[in-house]
Amino acid sequence: METKILLSEKEIPTHWYNITPDLPEQLPPPLHPGTGKPIGPEDLAPIFPMELIKQEVSTERWIEIPDDIIDAYKIYRPTPLHRAYRLEKALKTNARIYYKNESVSPAGSHKPNTAIAQAYYNMKEGVTRISTETGAGQWGSSIALACKIFGMKCTVYMVKVSYEQKPYRKILMQTWGAEVHPSPSNLTNAGKKILGENPDSPGSLGIAISEAVEDAATHEDTKYSLGSVLNHVLLHQTVIGLETKKQLELAGEKPDVLIGCVGGGSNFAGLAFPFVPDKLKGKNIRLIAVEPTACPTLTKGVYTYDFGDAVGLTPLVKMYTLGHDFVPPGIHAGGLRYHGDAPQLCLLVRNKVIEAVAYPQKPVFEAALLFARTEGIVPAPETSHAILCAIDEARKNNNNCIVFNLSGHGHFDMAAYDNYLSGKLEDYEYSEDMIKEAISKIPKF
Ligand SMILES: Cc1ncc(COP(=O)(O)O)c(C=O)c1O
Repeated sequence: METKILLSEKEIPTHWYNITPDLPEQLPPPLHPGTGKPIGPEDLAPIFPMELIKQEVSTERWIEIPDDIIDAYKIYRPTPLHRAYRLEKALKTNARIYYKNESVSPAGSHKPNTAIAQAYYNMKEGVTRISTETGAGQWGSSIALACKIFGMKCTVYMVKVSYEQKPYRKILMQTWGAEVHPSPSNLTNAGKKILGENPDSPGSLGIAISEAVEDAATHEDTKYSLGSVLNHVLLHQTVIGLETKKQLELAGEKPDVLIGCVGGGSNFAGLAFPFVPDKLKGKNIRLIAVEPTACPTLTKGVYTYDFGDAVGLTPLVKMYTLGHDFVPPGIHAGGLRYHGDAPQLCLLVRNKVIEAVAYPQKPVFEAALLFARTEGIVPAPETSHAILCAIDEARKNNNNCIVFNLSGHGHFDMAAYDNYLSGKLEDYEYSEDMIKEAISKIPKF
């Protein structure tokens, strides 16, 4: 029995899978932040290149991947699908556990799958600089790398708590040529406003997004790039699930459960969306999205229109949200600290096609250690939420084929591991009152 199921470079998918035509109901349109009316492509043109806007609203099921993007994917794709024999043995389970190893990319996560595509389309349309935000630093590193591949400049607003916890992520971004600022910063009006209200703000993804969007909107040569949430980002990530499908076929397996952690929803969607048509046709597959109890968007948020950023510059999208000015505690899974989630994912959760669960960070780290000590790979704290869920599922049912997305490694998260090993890590659970308070600030339409 093979431990790694490998594909050749010729088997890198030639098309991304777009779930829009297969959604059980139409996706509610994004609304203009000023007027509250549905927006059109022209409203997005100041911050995104036209080809990505077209992908955002496309109803084509398959979108061809340009050769230059496939060439760049060859740096690390296809990624291996591993059978977690050693973890299974430690759990004394007969369940078959597989993981898709997206940690083999140079940036250490799935994020380059969309960063490469986004940098390419920007370059094609004459953009010379990309501005973006980053939480854990995984996205910032990925877009820094992608900009370098296509000869562009890159400015990253990094959530301050992560900037302080992860100095080496910052240096990695700088190594690939990016400029990195802790957010909130004094460089934008959005950052100044937040600092005025709270000079010690730890930052959040929502705040950093406000800064990066403002930077793009106020500079002619610059466009904005988002690492998750949007339809075109989820689209690019489907290379994960498309490869996994082929690999499971090679292994003679039919998956019973597919699992991914959720920050904005892109790595989960990348793995799970290509299997959604099978589920809608009646195949018995469970799709489980895993989030932290410190930021319980899908499990405790409300399904309504809200801003994508903290300040209210981005369009309003219909999603599960905790309120756009919700600032989650500085847990170590920085990439999961986002108040909302991808609208396509939320619609599928709403329609009960996808399930959601939330875990506190201590048992998540316990699962991370068990994984590191059996499979050898030290997982990212974000990814470890999916690992804990896979372990739970294996304990519940001994016969299942369980597949999870190993969205990234944790080589830059040693401070988090240090905290866990020295007993300093704390769990956070939001009380119903705190959630009610956060939700009460969502704009009414
Ligand atoms: C390793 C890793 N996994 C998961 C995520 C969550 O993002 P998403 O839900 O878009 O996959 C992040 C975000 O930074 C990440 O770095």
